[in-house]
Amino acid sequence: MSVLRGGGAEAGVPALLAPLSGVTDLYMRRIARRYGASAVISEMVAAAELALGDAESQLRSEGAGVSPHVVQLAGCAPEPMARAARIAVETGADVIDVNMGCPAKTVTGGAAGSALMRDLDNAERLLAAVRDAVSVPVTVKMRLGWDEASLNAADLAQRAERLGLNAVTVHGRTRQQFYKGSADWTAIRAVVQAVRIPVFANGDITSLSEARACLAASGAAGVMIGRAAQGRPWLVGAIASALAGQPRPEPSREERAAIACEHYEGLIALYGPAMGVRHARKHLASYVEHAGPGALPASERTRLLTTSDPALALELLRRAFLDPDDAPLESLGEAA
Ligand SMILES: Cc1cc2nc3c(=O)[nH]c(=O)nc-3n(C[C@H](O)[C@H](O)[C@H](O)COP(=O)(O)O)c2cc1C
Repeated sequence: MSVLRGGGAEAGVPALLAPLSGVTDLYMRRIARRYGASAVISEMVAAAELALGDAESQLRSEGAGVSPHVVQLAGCAPEPMARAARIAVETGADVIDVNMGCPAKTVTGGAAGSALMRDLDNAERLLAAVRDAVSVPVTVKMRLGWDEASLNAADLAQRAERLGLNAVTVHGRTRQQFYKGSADWTAIRAVVQAVRIPVFANGDITSLSEARACLAASGAAGVMIGRAAQGRPWLVGAIASALAGQPRPEPSREERAAIACEHYEGLIALYGPAMGVRHARKHLASYVEHAGPGALPASERTRLLTTSDPALALELLRRAFLDPDDAPLESLGEAA
């Protein structure tokens, strides 16, 4: 995607799939990209663990069949971040994204994620180390600041730009908000105005009309969408196409069922049956949630979310989409 490589916007306005730990696995990213998401970002990968050859970190940074392959790294020390960035690129990453937005105490307690916004000199050293370690584009994802009293995203974005980073994403909340309240798209405008590199606006976008409203409020080059794509990996591409003036028909029930089953089977293949079944459960819940009202009777829903038998899970998943064939399908609409 040229906008991530510093080559200016492609036709239309990009819509990216956000990194979601435990969610944007290889198959979610593959499907979202195939359905037209402008780019898809991996779950955050702990740099220190990837640098030590940790198997789970390798799975999280897997990108076979995803292009461009964007790996997000989280860490607080320049040297492991640089090492992890080199490993990610050697194993196929086309872009490295640096996490400066995660609010979780397990991450900020180690001075990574959004805690880096409390010490911009350290944040800058970390970005410089990654920038110098690899020749692929480097981007950074941040929040508006640590709290209301320190809204320093524009300062951090300027530092990133001076270092030669290629793009910035801003989630329109502070760290202290976690996920409470609503994202402030207008506050992202200060970052857009502070730099020349593309800024992507993120937070609470669930529909085409919200994507348009966010772009209007922020002036951003594009949008990044996370939670709304759970159970609907086609959503980001549908919004991207509509923003480009080429709206596409929504996937049919059969297509949605096929996507959900492909995702499920992919996870079993990637993680093996035991871990794959566990990993897939949150996706199954999201797919059923979006399969229409009364998609599965409560007892069958419970079976779907608890079974360790992949064949049964696939059967119930198909039934969730295909049985209530008179129920209205959720659509991209102007307010999904
Ligand atoms: C379950 C979950 C996992 C997340 N994992 C990451 C992550 O790994 N890296 C990151 O930068 N942000 C992460 N985020 C934040 C999202 O990328 C995004 O900024 C946030 O959810 C707001 O966007 P949305 O309203 O479109 O979901 C996560 C959010 C959630 C809810």
